[in-house]
Amino acid sequence: MLIRYKKTLEKIAMGLLSFMPNEKDLKKLQQTMREYETEEDWQLFLWKEEDIIGLLGVLYHKDTNSLEIQHISVNPSHRFQGVGKRMVKALKEMYADKEIIANENTAGFIEKCDIC
Ligand SMILES: CC(C)(COP(=O)(O)OP(=O)(O)OC[C@H]1O[C@@H](n2cnc3c(N)ncnc32)[C@H](O)[C@@H]1OP(=O)(O)O)[C@@H](O)C(=O)NCCC(=O)NCCS
Repeated sequence: MLIRYKKTLEKIAMGLLSFMPNEKDLKKLQQTMREYETEEDWQLFLWKEEDIIGLLGVLYHKDTNSLEIQHISVNPSHRFQGVGKRMVKALKEMYADKEIIANENTAGFIEKCDIC
């Protein structure tokens, strides 16, 4: 299930976020984490099965009532088992009134999620 990020989950969240190709630089990663912690429109979720194995970060666009998936990652030991698609499906269900969109960093995978 999708759970909301909280400060006690910072280490696991940073580890998962660092799998994003555009978050390899530590300074950039720390800056991104700060934005999720402080910006109202930036929302970070973690995916918990038995353990926390995935991360989904979104930016809410008030003007278009849409949610942009900025970050998505799954623990390498749990990839290719449908976790990524389950996270997108759960987000769509949680925000059924909003359009879910990708950006240039997440479109490759999100475009595969039409059926999610
Ligand atoms: C992308 C990611 C979240 C997918 O998670 P996952 O749980 O393995 O995904 P699922 O098992 O739900 O789906 C697997 C499908 O996604 C595809 N896929 C995996 N990574 C992909 C990528 N970077 N771009 C496009 N498709 C990708 C697989 O080829 C597979 O396709 P298929 O259904 O046609 O066989 C995971 O690979 C990851 O954490 N990657 C590193 C972070 C990253 O690059 N995020 C941005 C992705 S654009």
